[in-house]
Amino acid sequence: MAAPARSILRASRSARVAFAPGRFSSSQPTLKERLAQLIPAEIENVKAIRAEHGKKAFGPVVVDQLYGGMRGLPALIWEGSVLDAEEGIRFRGKTIPECQELLPRAPGGAEPLPEALFWLLLTGEIPTQEQVTGLSKDWAARSAIPEFVEEILDRCPPTLHPMSQFSLAVTALNHNSAFAKAYQDGVSKKEYWGPTFEDSMDLIAKLPNIAGRIYRNVFGDGKLPAIDPDKDYSHNLATLLGFGDNAGFVELLRLYITIHSDHEGGNVSAHTGKLVGSALSDPFLAFAASLNGLAGPLHGLANQEVLLWLRKMQSKIGENASDEAVKEYVWSTLKGGQVVPGYGHAVLRKTDPRYTAQREFALKHLPDDPLFKLVGQIYNIVPDILLEAGKAKNPWPNVDAHSGALLTHYGLTQMQFYTVLFGVSRAFGVAAQLIWDRALGAPLERPKSYSSSAIQKIFQGRT
Ligand SMILES: CC(C)(COP(=O)(O)OP(=O)(O)OC[C@H]1O[C@@H](n2cnc3c(N)ncnc32)[C@H](O)[C@@H]1OP(=O)(O)O)[C@@H](O)C(=O)NCCC(=O)NCCS
Repeated sequence: MAAPARSILRASRSARVAFAPGRFSSSQPTLKERLAQLIPAEIENVKAIRAEHGKKAFGPVVVDQLYGGMRGLPALIWEGSVLDAEEGIRFRGKTIPECQELLPRAPGGAEPLPEALFWLLLTGEIPTQEQVTGLSKDWAARSAIPEFVEEILDRCPPTLHPMSQFSLAVTALNHNSAFAKAYQDGVSKKEYWGPTFEDSMDLIAKLPNIAGRIYRNVFGDGKLPAIDPDKDYSHNLATLLGFGDNAGFVELLRLYITIHSDHEGGNVSAHTGKLVGSALSDPFLAFAASLNGLAGPLHGLANQEVLLWLRKMQSKIGENASDEAVKEYVWSTLKGGQVVPGYGHAVLRKTDPRYTAQREFALKHLPDDPLFKLVGQIYNIVPDILLEAGKAKNPWPNVDAHSGALLTHYGLTQMQFYTVLFGVSRAFGVAAQLIWDRALGAPLERPKSYSSSAIQKIFQGRT
């Protein structure tokens, strides 16, 4: 359906107003000021590494990697987080429990504030409480979305998957991109990171209003409360979703966003953002591409799939099913040629510490929840079956095996929405990468592809 002409005019007029960054006086450096201090030394560091090691081989590439989704191919640089197959993720060298201990929290809260995690991802440093509060306020000040983006969302049919709506809205934010404008105005390469930083801050800040609007349009009455400039990011997101009064849910969101933010550079959403950003597409376009990757069932949509699978299981074998009945159901999934959602990983070879962090949260806040108990029962059953089936290299659960049970406990039962929350979180990692890529002058990504006949020719006569 075409928009009435008047509404288009009104929308474009409101959208033309540039996003206004928040400014807050403080004796301590803001995130942007701290980054500006760090960037010159990092440029020199990269130059030195390339001068010393740039021409050295970095392990062999085997043909299987070309056909096998580039598993294990060393191809990217990202300082923000590193994933060890046995240990799991570290954000700037810090494990999830270390982040829970070290990063500033909300008053009375026990979980880290995602604002602090973003600071850590960007700088490698733990921010002060004041710096984190400054970020919360800055994001609240930037949080409004243009009227025409609201209209795009309001026009989406409720049957359009929330992730598609999310991607549409983020793409449309590009209308006000500081980077796209600066590029058109002829900004020097050396200055790219500044407008990329502004766009990234706007992007993260606006996601609660987008996610909240999608949730309320699809599952509620479409009415949205206002952001509170004195509340932290997760609290405001919870409020927009209708759970702001639920302290447990707010704490869950703080943990959820923190642990879903980044998972080194090679996963589909992180890598897609970096790849698209390397063409100097602005952060809105680059992150919208990330979201489209996250929307796949082998990646972020797995959290939706886990809940669907659990619900199907319950409808088939009942709510307090025996281990035997669960085993049979898991086998029927595998025999039907489907994957067990929430299990396995392309890099990890142990239980995902993001799963463990969520399990610990559940043990503390909802130990008797029936769905949590089912998740635990499955944990005791699935790995042995995947090992016996003999295909999956990692039989252990990943982050998605747990998250839906926690959200369901607090009343967020609409599983089609779960990946949107993953997307809000993943913006933190993708945005941090984009800022550093522009600061370091990362080039256009352009790996080489080969045809099968070229491979055969290359190896002709060789054994
Ligand atoms: C995450 C995932 C995509 C990783 O894929 P991968 O790196 O190719 O994994 P593997 O090398 O272990 O795959 C080898 C085989 O085991 C299968 N396998 C892996 N995990 C499996 C699972 N959870 N259930 C059933 N089979 C699985 C693969 O489909 C593949 O089968 P194929 O040879 O017929 O193609 C895969 O484990 C998966 O599909 N998991 C379920 C979806 C999920 O939870 N995704 C979220 C990830 S954070």
